[in-house]
Amino acid sequence: MSITQFEQKYSEIYDLIYQDKDYEKECDFIERIFSKFGVTVSSILDLGCGSGGHAIPLSQRGYSITGVDISTHMLNKAIEKANKLKTGCRFLQGDIRKIQINETFNAVISMFAVISYQIEDQDLVSTFETAYKHLKKGGIFIFDFWFGPAVLNEKPSLKFKEVNLDKMRIIRITTPSIDIFSNTVDVNFKVFVIDKNRKSFDFFEELHRVRYFFPREISSVLKNIGFSEIHFFPFLDLSRKPNESDWNVSCVALK
Ligand SMILES: C[S@@+](CC[C@H](N)C(=O)[O-])C[C@H]1O[C@@H](n2cnc3c(N)ncnc32)[C@H](O)[C@@H]1O
Repeated sequence: MSITQFEQKYSEIYDLIYQDKDYEKECDFIERIFSKFGVTVSSILDLGCGSGGHAIPLSQRGYSITGVDISTHMLNKAIEKANKLKTGCRFLQGDIRKIQINETFNAVISMFAVISYQIEDQDLVSTFETAYKHLKKGGIFIFDFWFGPAVLNEKPSLKFKEVNLDKMRIIRITTPSIDIFSNTVDVNFKVFVIDKNRKSFDFFEELHRVRYFFPREISSVLKNIGFSEIHFFPFLDLSRKPNESDWNVSCVALK
């Protein structure tokens, strides 16, 4: 990551902003991929695990989970939730472009556009190398990313999200700015957190630089590293190939 993001204030509201994201359904999808490709999985490495959205439910389903994230604020959220639910997840602070864990896993996952946060070509190569190094032979790497054909077709647009809770209201205004030469989008989040009791509000901004990728460049990097089979699917849909309307695309790579 080249710019500061997932700082304390944004990490504090992350789970609230994404409370409608169905992580259980996404874990079902991950499990469907395991069985579609016939991979027996007991251990999973979650690169960019964030607040543990996938790590925790997967641990509850019986997998041995290690989660890595660069943001201590996101990791603290994950640890707090895992402790409350008494799950045995292991969380490590580190950069997925260079972390070395002296262990190999049956599966490596990197969910919710973590790969799109790897902006430079070398960031992508290093992250895929991390995945490869930590996979057992026959292991599976699953990630999703912003799909270039859909980003260029649909174009990033201004978005407004409101979350209304008992004591608090959160408003997030998203202003994107695309750079078609670097294949990146600067996503500016303006966030208002309104305290209903005190009738006061906090305001902050975070800038997330996100890169959209094309299948050929992803395949080429994965193949150079040594992955044997590479498949693309629309996110949550294993029945067809992605098209220009599929903003989020999943990639499955086998070692
Ligand atoms: C959109 S969040 C996704 C979090 C989680 N996977 C989920 O599905 O909720 C992206 C996460 O990737 C992490 N991240 C991005 N680049 C990273 C890097 N180079 N090393 C470690 N973590 C990284 C961020 O800190 C953030 O927690």
